[in-house]
Amino acid sequence: MTYPFLEACHGRPTEYTPIWIMRQAGRYLEEYREVQKTADFMTVCKTPELTVEVTLQPVRILGVDAAILFSDILTPIEKMGMKVQFLKGKGPVLEPAITSMQAVDKLGVPDPEDDLGFVLESIRILRRELEGKVPLIGFCGAPFTLACYMIEGETSKDYSDAKRLMFQAPHVYSALLEKITETVSVYADAQIKAGAQAIQFFDTWAGLLSRADYQAYALPYVKRAIAYVRERHPDTPIVYYINGSATILDLMQSAGSSVIGLDWRHDLDTAWKQLGEGTVVQGNLDPCTLFLPQDELRKRVKDVLDRAAGRPGHIFNLGHGILPPTPRENAIALVQMVHEMSRRK
Ligand code: CP3
Repeated sequence: MTYPFLEACHGRPTEYTPIWIMRQAGRYLEEYREVQKTADFMTVCKTPELTVEVTLQPVRILGVDAAILFSDILTPIEKMGMKVQFLKGKGPVLEPAITSMQAVDKLGVPDPEDDLGFVLESIRILRRELEGKVPLIGFCGAPFTLACYMIEGETSKDYSDAKRLMFQAPHVYSALLEKITETVSVYADAQIKAGAQAIQFFDTWAGLLSRADYQAYALPYVKRAIAYVRERHPDTPIVYYINGSATILDLMQSAGSSVIGLDWRHDLDTAWKQLGEGTVVQGNLDPCTLFLPQDELRKRVKDVLDRAAGRPGHIFNLGHGILPPTPRENAIALVQMVHEMSRRK
């Protein structure tokens, strides 16, 4: 059984361009909101039966070419020893924020089987459910982005507290990053062992760093996590996504992933040329184009596909996660458009 998504990850030609959507399970689907009425977000993440149900929703409803495990990049952080809550209207809140060496010393590195067994169990069930349909993507946060949340304790526009700690207490910062790197390395490895057929590292906030600071404070850690996974699973594709990678694209590539996840600010063709045409790319439609009327949306989809020019090694996706107010019919139409318009004659 070959799957277009995995073929494309390996840079091999496919009958049509495969597509999945970052945050494809979520509030824009009424079926997801139904589940949310009975269980809050963390409960859904920790109950394999519910995790499986919401993971499968976009596969059923949209016909995407891959499923992504329903969880959050902050799930393992709770098991490192922080209190993690998702508050309505505020987003994630992590307590107490990490600002000292004592706080870092108290953090543990979770054992995936013992502490995150619910994730691995969900993966095992999903693999059975998805057999012969679509492959399953596992994921984690990249170390820098997780550190941003752990240091700030909440969502921020510029993560200046995280950068302050990085500059004022570099030994605390690096001790924290070491622990996070170990956590995500063994967690990604365990997800693949449980059955995940690809892994995505989300480095949402790395685009806030200058080139020099990305190189000093983010890249070494994500590079190590990727190498850890690659060494143990040489055939499993690793996708690396940054939101806002235009100024650091060459450095991002040096992290060593199999696939580069591009945000929407890039022209796909220009970025692809810069990376080298043998590179595999994922992206990069602006999530807000899903608010356009469908004829306008179609032009935007065509633009991305024209820039990819039918070359193997393109996975269609949005340039960031799909937004809660997105009309579901436009998400459904997007998947159909990509399949139709990219079908090789
Ligand atoms: O893609 C998928 O469908 C899988 C599920 C998934 C979620 N979060 C579910 C979620 C994935 C891959 C993530 C990754 C994630 N989580 C990222 C990286 C991607 C990105 O968006 O940049 C980040 C930064 C987070 C942290 C996070 N989780 C924030 C900032 C929030 C609050 C903002 C929001 O959208 O509400 C969350 C909560 C969250 N994670 C929700 C979902 C579906 C919404 C919670 C709910 O449904 O009540």
